[in-house]
Amino acid sequence: MSRDKLELIRTAGPSVLPSLLMCDFGDLKGEVARLEDAGTRVLHLDVMDGHFVPNMTYAMPIVKGIRRHTELPMDVHLMISDPMAYAKPMVDAGADLLTFHVEAVDDAAAVAAEIRDLGVGVGVALNPDTPLSALDGCLDQVDMVLAMSVNAGFGGQKFNPVALEKLASLKQSHPELLLEIDGGINLDTIAAARSAGCDLFVVGSAIFKHDDYAAAIAALDRAIAGATS
Ligand code: DX5
Ligand code: ZN
Repeated sequence: MSRDKLELIRTAGPSVLPSLLMCDFGDLKGEVARLEDAGTRVLHLDVMDGHFVPNMTYAMPIVKGIRRHTELPMDVHLMISDPMAYAKPMVDAGADLLTFHVEAVDDAAAVAAEIRDLGVGVGVALNPDTPLSALDGCLDQVDMVLAMSVNAGFGGQKFNPVALEKLASLKQSHPELLLEIDGGINLDTIAAARSAGCDLFVVGSAIFKHDDYAAAIAALDRAIAGATS
């Protein structure tokens, strides 16, 4: 739990981040080990509260449990209505990068500054219908922007290309920021995200529907490497 791990995340890019949303939760330890063996450099954890999004997943005990079994950096995506109420508990549980949704808060710059003070990386996420202007005033307080390419809440949804425009625009205006995309990323969509300037590619179903995670991740890596800029 420190900003040292943020450097590992930064240097991991461009990289595929498996989303622990569609894995076998009955064998979480095994799933994390398989992902690590498959070359994963950063894990993406989807936290949902049944309020900000109409779905629920898991919270600190699971994050802490995963931390006991891996040293991999943990990128924790908070899809919750009150990120500040859970930011410190999440950091204590082992999060290295905490991403909150701009739609969930009144003052994104203040939330980002508070998370930064906890000693971890800070990300801000925005849903497809949220304009980039919603991030005005907070971009100098964050390390990463997560452009959602589906509405937050469920895996297995169809990719919305509006995220690509946001990434390309941010790459121009804020080249120092880490850029992440999440939702509907697969072999058909990942190269376009790379071409738009994305560094971190969250992938759920396009990994977990395969038995061979290493092959699935390698194919996605090849597509990233083959993307034109
Ligand atoms: C959606 C989550 C994603 C999701 C991605 O709200 O934030 O991380 O698991 O899953 P796929 O890749 O299936 O869209
Ligand atoms: Zn996510």
